[in-house]
Amino acid sequence: MTAILQITDTHIVAEGVLVSGKLDTGAALKRLVSRLCSIHDQIGPVDAVLVSGDLSDDGTAESYERFKALVAPLGLPLHIIPGNHDAREPMRAAFTEQLPGNGPLNWHVQVGNVHMIGLDTLVEGHRHGTLTHETLTYLRNALIRANGAPVLLALHHPPFPSGIKFMDDIGLTNRGAIKQAVSGYSGKMHIVCGHIHSMMLTSIAGHLAISAPSPNSTFEYDQRADAPVGFFTQEDGCLLHRWNDGFQTVRIGPVAGAGPYSF
Ligand SMILES: [Fe+2]
Repeated sequence: MTAILQITDTHIVAEGVLVSGKLDTGAALKRLVSRLCSIHDQIGPVDAVLVSGDLSDDGTAESYERFKALVAPLGLPLHIIPGNHDAREPMRAAFTEQLPGNGPLNWHVQVGNVHMIGLDTLVEGHRHGTLTHETLTYLRNALIRANGAPVLLALHHPPFPSGIKFMDDIGLTNRGAIKQAVSGYSGKMHIVCGHIHSMMLTSIAGHLAISAPSPNSTFEYDQRADAPVGFFTQEDGCLLHRWNDGFQTVRIGPVAGAGPYSF
């Protein structure tokens, strides 16, 4: 049994600052972490935390230090990839033990039975994401090394369109390339991402692709081309990915309802 928590799009800034003048993202992450600690016995042992990008809202060293302090109560190893709000070098400097010393922030690590592969889609100075030739080569080689074992593949930008135009306009530019790279992998694979602050599921070359919700805000599902652009305040927790002879993904909400009531 392997269990990996996925937290995404925490958008941490300096203490006392509100994101877009509205969101206290640090307080939201603190509430999520305290909720996770309080249900620790219910969800059982967790092996690691995957953070799928936009840890920071502004890419500052200070925001990464605050992020680390906020998730420290979990007491779990962190595996992180950058999102469009992150900055590669400050992130690398803040997580020297987890991230490579140079080049794209790609990594491959085995956690229990699961091969976790993290990919860097950050195009600094832009909001969209791209898988470079170097990163796609890294992915192909990592899948060769995984050799049919279960894979949890993570990237910030969804490898699928969400239907929300203003988010798809800043999506992954080469979705076809990842589809090509993962097609034919002989083992089980879940592809997980963030960026759209909500949970959506689809299939990429026969593998389940899942976007995780954000603990501080979301975007309304509105397929109209003239949909209002902006975010909604909403705390929507995180995901727990389990491997036990197959993948299972559970959504962990931020606040427990009242109960249990007898039937
Ligand atoms: Fe993002």
